[in-house]
Amino acid sequence: MSHHVAIAGATGAVGREFLKLMENRNYPLKSLKLLASSRSAGKKISFMGEELVVEELTPQSFKGIDIAFFSAGGSNSKKFAPSAVDSGALVIDNSSAFRMDEEVPLVVPEVNPEAANRHQGIIANPNCSTIQMVVALQPLHKAAKINRVVVSTYQATSGAGASGMQELLDQVKAYHENQPLISKVFQKQIAFNLIPQIADFQENGYTTEEMKMVLETQKIMSAPDMKIAATCVRVPVLRSHSESINIETETKLSVEEARKLLSEAPGIIVEDTREDGGYPVPWDVSETYDTYVGRIREDISTTNGLAFWVVADQLYKGAALNALQISEWLNSHS
Ligand code: A2P
Repeated sequence: MSHHVAIAGATGAVGREFLKLMENRNYPLKSLKLLASSRSAGKKISFMGEELVVEELTPQSFKGIDIAFFSAGGSNSKKFAPSAVDSGALVIDNSSAFRMDEEVPLVVPEVNPEAANRHQGIIANPNCSTIQMVVALQPLHKAAKINRVVVSTYQATSGAGASGMQELLDQVKAYHENQPLISKVFQKQIAFNLIPQIADFQENGYTTEEMKMVLETQKIMSAPDMKIAATCVRVPVLRSHSESINIETETKLSVEEARKLLSEAPGIIVEDTREDGGYPVPWDVSETYDTYVGRIREDISTTNGLAFWVVADQLYKGAALNALQISEWLNSHS
């Protein structure tokens, strides 16, 4: 079934990926409306050989729209998603605005697709780092019950939007031209550096991004007792997030068993040859659809432990692709 679709935030880092993916996947469209701020109204964006004109996002934008993909920041989701729902659209929201609302399903199709059926107008797309982590955790959890997760992330600048990527490029250029390196998007210089802070600090010393990984993972995997601690780090990479993950399971999983489970799981590619370069890296994974797992080994510091490395394109699987997959799943299961 094809749909009348709107993208709120169509000019942004994730919005642009929606357009690319809709073309690549031949997404079933009756019409496509591109929405952004008044600054972009009138701007033309080419899509499938046509020039589409960007319109200003207003509460009236959603008349006749079946599905509205939101990627214009949390405050705009809060402000405009209710109007979209009132107009009869299903909202698939990329922001964190509704993720922890009890009545809003938080969905990763490889993990909990059926939750999408319980929506009351809004489905939330999880945080990008959470998505690729739960895709990798799910097959291991099903087989051996994960009790504890310790994760450190290596997150690309595009996670902070198009302006984050631009700041890295501008700083690299300024460095080569002997000019001052100006930081506006990130808390510190990002070129030739890394920053152990993503989002604001909370009272417990963790950042909001780190606590999203904890709470969202527990919700998506229906595992409120799973113990999770995260450290989120911004690195000077343009695109695709990487994660170093250690897990402790209830029952022992050998490396061979884990590798088999991961290889057979949907949406995962295992790249793990234990040779120089035999593991996934963000540059290679960019603009691909799957979640890549490598460096699978026993966590030798505990009894039932595994360590591994997970990389995925966070603008695709961590954002636009996951949202499209949710709507595709609903399309084929309704
Ligand atoms: P615009 O390009 O007109 O500012 P990113 O995540 O790359 O920063 O992109 C954010 C997206 O959200 C852009 O498409 C941006 O549009 C859009 N956006 C930001 N503020 C608003 C707003 N007040 N109303 C509608 N869209 C907005």
